[in-house]
Amino acid sequence: MGRSLAGSRVLVLGGSSGIGLATAKAAAAAGAKVTLASRSNDKVNAAVAQVGSGAAGAALDTTNDAALEAFFSKDPEWDHIVVSVAAGRSAGLHDLSLQDAYGNMNAKFWTAYKTAKLATITPDGSLTLVSGYLSHRPNKDALLQGCINAALESLGRGLALALSPVRVNTVSPGLIDTPIRAAMPADRKKAMLDHAAATLPARRVGHAEDVADAILMLMTNPFTTGSTLFVDGGGMIS
Ligand SMILES: NC(=O)c1ccc[n+]([C@@H]2O[C@H](COP(=O)([O-])OP(=O)(O)OC[C@H]3O[C@@H](n4cnc5c(N)ncnc54)[C@H](OP(=O)(O)O)[C@@H]3O)[C@@H](O)[C@H]2O)c1
Repeated sequence: MGRSLAGSRVLVLGGSSGIGLATAKAAAAAGAKVTLASRSNDKVNAAVAQVGSGAAGAALDTTNDAALEAFFSKDPEWDHIVVSVAAGRSAGLHDLSLQDAYGNMNAKFWTAYKTAKLATITPDGSLTLVSGYLSHRPNKDALLQGCINAALESLGRGLALALSPVRVNTVSPGLIDTPIRAAMPADRKKAMLDHAAATLPARRVGHAEDVADAILMLMTNPFTTGSTLFVDGGGMIS
């Protein structure tokens, strides 16, 4: 049986939307004291209201090294940290500017690395990273995203050694219907989700709650560390 989250201090970076928000809600429902953070003050406030249960929020851009350092020096110890920060616009080799490419790596990979370096996590606690199955199924229109995800999965395995006995795991989602595609034209998005639902072995697209369930398992299972858990409806094998 997994450890209880009741009363534990849980931080979700990127917790104002999608997978992070679903994780914050699930952790709060399991009795955790949740803090969620992201760049937009409005999104943070709206998310805190949705999570309820005394959740706290912080407006924080994790690409800002000084701000991240100040944040972690204020809060001395966490039981569990989840890093669910999104990378930014995704595109193919010739369509993504180098500036955007560096920005994507900075937001998604370096946030995880810096968090591991700066945060103090209790010895029986955990750090969970969110990657994505493009790590194993490269897509030419999201080339860099796959590389960032692969780097994160490798980072998670290495951190499980470096931060031991803190457990470090990575959850690797497939296609999950979240606000990450808010800027995509509605018809293109619908066609993409319909196609996935028709062809994935699970016969549906993923929901943020599917991934949150897996993250809670990784947070609470005391014998799981250095793992990458795919929550992709069978996307890896189809
Ligand atoms: N949805 C999918 O299909 C899918 C598939 C595979 C992997 N993933 C991965 O899962 C993770 C979560 O994705 P999601 O679908 O939940 O996306 P989402 O709904 O867009 O949520 C992303 C979160 O990251 C925050 N964020 C972005 N840049 C930030 C920064 N510099 N500093 C702090 N917070 C920042 C956003 O809030 P602000 O805008 O307020 O900063 C938001 O809370 C991402 O890493 C994504 O690549 C998603």
